[in-house]
Amino acid sequence: MDRWVGKVAVVTGASSGIGQNIAQELAERGMTVVGVARRAELVEELAKKLSGSKGKLHALKADIGNEEDVVKAFEWIRKNIGSVHVLVNNAGIAPYTFLSKLERSDYKKIRGCFDVNVMGLIMCSNEAIKLMKEKGIDDGHIFNVNSVAGHYIGNMPGFFPYTASKFAVTVITEGLRRELAEAKSKIRVTSVSPGLVDTNIGAPSGIPNFEEMVANAPCLKSEDITRSLIHALTAPPDVQIAEIMVRPVGEQF
Ligand SMILES: NC(=O)c1ccc[n+]([C@@H]2O[C@H](COP(=O)([O-])OP(=O)(O)OC[C@H]3O[C@@H](n4cnc5c(N)ncnc54)[C@H](OP(=O)(O)O)[C@@H]3O)[C@@H](O)[C@H]2O)c1
Repeated sequence: MDRWVGKVAVVTGASSGIGQNIAQELAERGMTVVGVARRAELVEELAKKLSGSKGKLHALKADIGNEEDVVKAFEWIRKNIGSVHVLVNNAGIAPYTFLSKLERSDYKKIRGCFDVNVMGLIMCSNEAIKLMKEKGIDDGHIFNVNSVAGHYIGNMPGFFPYTASKFAVTVITEGLRRELAEAKSKIRVTSVSPGLVDTNIGAPSGIPNFEEMVANAPCLKSEDITRSLIHALTAPPDVQIAEIMVRPVGEQF
């Protein structure tokens, strides 16, 4: 971890669940972390708790599905923090919708899912790479928090738009890796694909009985995902861990 101490990590979706845990762990291990979320006050609360730690957490309010917000966020980072070495594209939503019986109100939910899970990830990656290049950083690392759903089409009625968005993440991650390799860049790209994790993702998604599902199914904790991310981050600079799939033992889907 030594080579990342004092370096800058931007974590999207740092107000809850997996992103919150990643932001905390990276700050505790000595990185300067910018935690991005719409509910920046929750990131601010965590930042206060971490005030005595080795690194520092900054809260930054942004809707990463919104182009203006993303551009402004990276401008703020450029001006106030200076650079970015690690980007964790973690923010994501999983609307519960049925393709065969959509209401018009569902269109907005599905568009929102693609705006955040796909376009947000594309825009943040692009802004981060631009800033890395401007600052002469050619050994950065981009993480995309993907999903098991990004790799195969499970029998998950209600989650096919989400599955489609995560398949897009798989393609974009590999596409970015190939383009960076073509350009002889040393920036690494890693997709981290969790199975079921006990977080708050069920609430905004409208997933019925999510808590019950989590209570009754094998389930990971956010820390399990963070541990895998740290494993890839701390691999030797010429080793690129391109994909990590983390599932709870006994997962059925
Ligand atoms: N939990 C699982 O079982 C599971 C499994 C596989 C993959 N994943 C993936 O893991 C990632 C994190 O999810 P989680 O389970 O930790 O869910 P979570 O607890 O609901 O956290 C989601 C985070 O995303 C942020 N977010 C959502 N929309 C945003 C927007 N428009 N702009 C900025 N931030 C936004 C939320 O912050 P604000 O609401 O404050 O903006 C929150 O911090 C997602 O990409 C998800 O697809 C989760």
